[in-house]
Amino acid sequence: METSRELHRLVTGYQVSQAVHVAATLGLSDLLADGPKSVAELADATGADARSLTRLMYAMAAVGLYVGDGDERFANTELGDAFRTDAPNSVAGWARLVGRPYHWQTYASLEHSIRTGENAFAAVHGESVWDYLAKHPAEQKVFDEAMTALSQAVADEVVNAYDFGQFGTVVDVGGGRGMLLAAVLSRYPSVNGVLFDRPDVVAGAHELLSSIGVWQRCRGVGGSFFDSVPDGGDAYLLKAVIHDWPDAESVEILRTCRRSMPAHGRLLLVEQLLDESPDPVRTALSDLTMLVVAGGQERTTDEYRSLLAAAGFDLIRTVPTGSDVFVLEAAPAQ
Ligand SMILES: C[S@@+](CC[C@H](N)C(=O)[O-])C[C@H]1O[C@@H](n2cnc3c(N)ncnc32)[C@H](O)[C@@H]1O
Repeated sequence: METSRELHRLVTGYQVSQAVHVAATLGLSDLLADGPKSVAELADATGADARSLTRLMYAMAAVGLYVGDGDERFANTELGDAFRTDAPNSVAGWARLVGRPYHWQTYASLEHSIRTGENAFAAVHGESVWDYLAKHPAEQKVFDEAMTALSQAVADEVVNAYDFGQFGTVVDVGGGRGMLLAAVLSRYPSVNGVLFDRPDVVAGAHELLSSIGVWQRCRGVGGSFFDSVPDGGDAYLLKAVIHDWPDAESVEILRTCRRSMPAHGRLLLVEQLLDESPDPVRTALSDLTMLVVAGGQERTTDEYRSLLAAAGFDLIRTVPTGSDVFVLEAAPAQ
């Protein structure tokens, strides 16, 4: 019986994922931050149908996010409170992304990727996720906020584990809205930063970087890392970028960085590692997401070493951060 229940939980995981996505999109944990609320109050605040929202609340109580008093008033549990948008290490931004219909449809074609090896996103939407996002600004915003949430969750660990204070200028390549760069600049006041990403993404970064008080030491540059990246950095930082791409494109991106780097420069990849992951389930599932959504893959330390060598870099060391990501430090091969 237990085995069958366990299997049932695995099979219905998609329902939990979509329900948690809706809870995050409605901001239910945020609304419950100051104490319990009735379903009528929650429905009023979110514009949702009260009867359906009651059913969602009972389902979310069943999986442990909220607790009911038996009279249609609900409160955050410890888990629900950690799901507030402003909670430390919150995954609410990520939850708002993964249930979006275009993302959900893509994952519905996982079988296509497994049977053919092809990227499901391109098969379903007829273009890459990056081209799709460029044409859909509302989705781009949700995506960028999800990346910001994921980066915020590991930023302190990354900047504490690796000494960025040795560099004059750090270029964050594919840096999104600059969450990790902001953490580097906050922790190391002598460092200047360059945020490089696609033009629409960089255009949305000013608010975050100025709210963290580092905009004065930072410059935003829009472009494509298949053409060029800004010159003059002492370190080129790429977090969760190379895992988005197959080997050939990854080598191209790394070569572009190599062309802009001085001989003393450092290349810093911040990535999960299949062979070292402290959370192997998360990393294995992230590998599937890379296959389906972006067309990339998670890799082992040796696979990164080979990729770096093909682009003219020596992997010097991998630095654990205590979170699920590592800093892979590489130098131009002499
Ligand atoms: C998975 S996100 C990671 C964002 C950020 N580094 C982080 O960890 O939060 C990958 C980033 O690569 C950027 N990107 C994709 N194609 C690009 C290109 N051709 N040139 C520059 N950036 C690109 C995306 O816009 C996105 O911000």
